[in-house]
Amino acid sequence: MAKYRICSIEGDGIGHEVIPATRRLLDAAGFSAEYVDAEAGYEYYLDHGTSVPQATYDAVENTDATLFGAATSPSGEKPPGFSGAIRHLRQKYGLYANVRPTKTRPVPGAYENVDLVIVRENTQGLYVEQERRYGDVAIADTVITGEASLRIGKYAAELAMQRGKKLTVVHKANVLPVTQGLFLNTILDHTKTVEGLSVNTMIVDNAAMQLVRNPRQFDVLVMTNMFGDILSDLAAGLVGGLGIAASGNVGDKFGIFESVHGSAPDIAGQGVSNPTATMLAAVLMLDQLGDHETAKRIDNAVNKVLTEGPRTRDLGGTAGTKEFTDAVIAAL
Ligand code: NAI
Ligand code: MG
Repeated sequence: MAKYRICSIEGDGIGHEVIPATRRLLDAAGFSAEYVDAEAGYEYYLDHGTSVPQATYDAVENTDATLFGAATSPSGEKPPGFSGAIRHLRQKYGLYANVRPTKTRPVPGAYENVDLVIVRENTQGLYVEQERRYGDVAIADTVITGEASLRIGKYAAELAMQRGKKLTVVHKANVLPVTQGLFLNTILDHTKTVEGLSVNTMIVDNAAMQLVRNPRQFDVLVMTNMFGDILSDLAAGLVGGLGIAASGNVGDKFGIFESVHGSAPDIAGQGVSNPTATMLAAVLMLDQLGDHETAKRIDNAVNKVLTEGPRTRDLGGTAGTKEFTDAVIAAL
């Protein structure tokens, strides 16, 4: 019998390429899992009028972890009854921490020796689709609570203590002293009590510049939802781009592991997407499940192929998804 049960959601666009590639790798690495396939996303919504069916909730709840591809959210008008699949799942399951490690990988153009983690509050802030419109006026609510700020602050501080013992609280409390101020001060009140942790604060626009100029100064960064969305793509750009950036959405009970990138409609269906980000999301999942040995083997195999090739197009190579995946499997 398989040791773990994994919910597998391809979602939209290149999710249909990167998830099968990652599953093939997990099988080849001997990861002992039984998969429960589930659906979610915009394609599912177009056929069924909802982006996440009940069967998917059941699958997430009755498995040890979920591996997620990508989901489309159309820009502009929101279709009736639609909500972004991954945002919805993050909310529903209280996956309050979005953990996005940014580590230099052996790819062309990457900054050297970057090793930081962006911890993004995943349930509140501007990102939660609470918008309304009155004629010419459009309003988006930003809700921040002390409870959620404390929860994410504790998570980030604990993570920092397991790493370089340095935490940067990123904020915009100079302009938004009420909402961003609550986030910032709640975290600072907590981190005062954490012995041995070095804490500094940084206004988000400066943090964007500092990430580009001197990313090696950072260890763990914690921030609200929208800032984390933006800065984690920026951070991905420092070390090789979206093709290799992975993330975990974690809460007290469930975890959903996915790439940082989206459904990439510009290349979907061509078999050229880079599955590395999803493979590294699987590594995060394996570590969470406690299978550190398989996690390490996959991580090493990915690094070997990133070093020696073949590389996918986003990293300057010519390999397709399949050729790259075959090479990683051969490197195990
Ligand atoms: P995107 O991340 O899908 O693509 C941005 C650019 O990076 C594109 O040029 C794409 O071809 C490239 N790219 C992304 N992943 C790649 C990979 N694995 N291999 C090679 N190239 C890759 O972001 P975009 O285009 O802004 O959004 C497309 C859709 O994805 C939107 O509907 C958006 O809402 C959704 N999205 C979903 C996310 C999620 O499910 N967590 C995250 C970000 C966007
Ligand atoms: Mg994003």
